[in-house]
Amino acid sequence: MKMSFMDGKRLYLRPLETTDIDRCMAWINDEEILQFLGRRHPMGLVQETEWLANQYKDEDQLNLAIVLKDGDRHIGNGGFNSIDHVNRSAVFGILIGEHDAWNQGYGSEAATLIVQYGFQELNLHRIELDVFSLNPRARRAYEKVGFKLEGTKRDSYFRHGAFHDTYVMSVLQSEWRVE
Ligand SMILES: CC(C)(COP(=O)(O)OP(=O)(O)OC[C@H]1O[C@@H](n2cnc3c(N)ncnc32)[C@H](O)[C@@H]1OP(=O)(O)O)[C@@H](O)C(=O)NCCC(=O)NCCS
Repeated sequence: MKMSFMDGKRLYLRPLETTDIDRCMAWINDEEILQFLGRRHPMGLVQETEWLANQYKDEDQLNLAIVLKDGDRHIGNGGFNSIDHVNRSAVFGILIGEHDAWNQGYGSEAATLIVQYGFQELNLHRIELDVFSLNPRARRAYEKVGFKLEGTKRDSYFRHGAFHDTYVMSVLQSEWRVE
């Protein structure tokens, strides 16, 4: 196990390293994943290297590697964008890049750790996210973590020749369970 930042039951979270770049690049160029992230353009090594270098430059974002304890396997990344210290809010994001790791509870376990860190260590008041209607698995995973649906942006996302809705979900510090 490399440096663990947060320890869960079956996985741990650690900072991203330059040796993770090939995996990150494969995931961010995977069309099945891209449709869920809203990204359209490919990412080459130059952009990916720049993205990684920028991850730890400022305090308003946090992106961590999600690693299975079994086999010390890096399966995805997750964290916060746009951490706002005045409004005490942040935008949550996650990507389990390895398809064979989907639907096994890893995404919700990692999200729970990250959200807990947001509330208990960063003292956030509100954590929010957007999820597309074409991604019911993600919506269900977020519900399991404790995110509540607060609105629908109708026909806001165009993909595969059609418009899809975007759901806005959030969880407040006062709603969060202490673990
Ligand atoms: C979204 C993601 C983070 C979820 O992580 P995960 O480990 O696959 O999800 P979990 O196993 O924790 O939970 C998935 C839940 O959705 C359910 N589910 C799966 N497919 C579903 C579908 N088509 N409709 C409704 N529910 C579905 C699962 O049964 C499970 O619920 P349950 O535990 O009540 O049975 C992960 O799949 C992922 O990163 N996908 C690709 C990128 C992505 O979508 N990122 C999020 C962008 S908003």
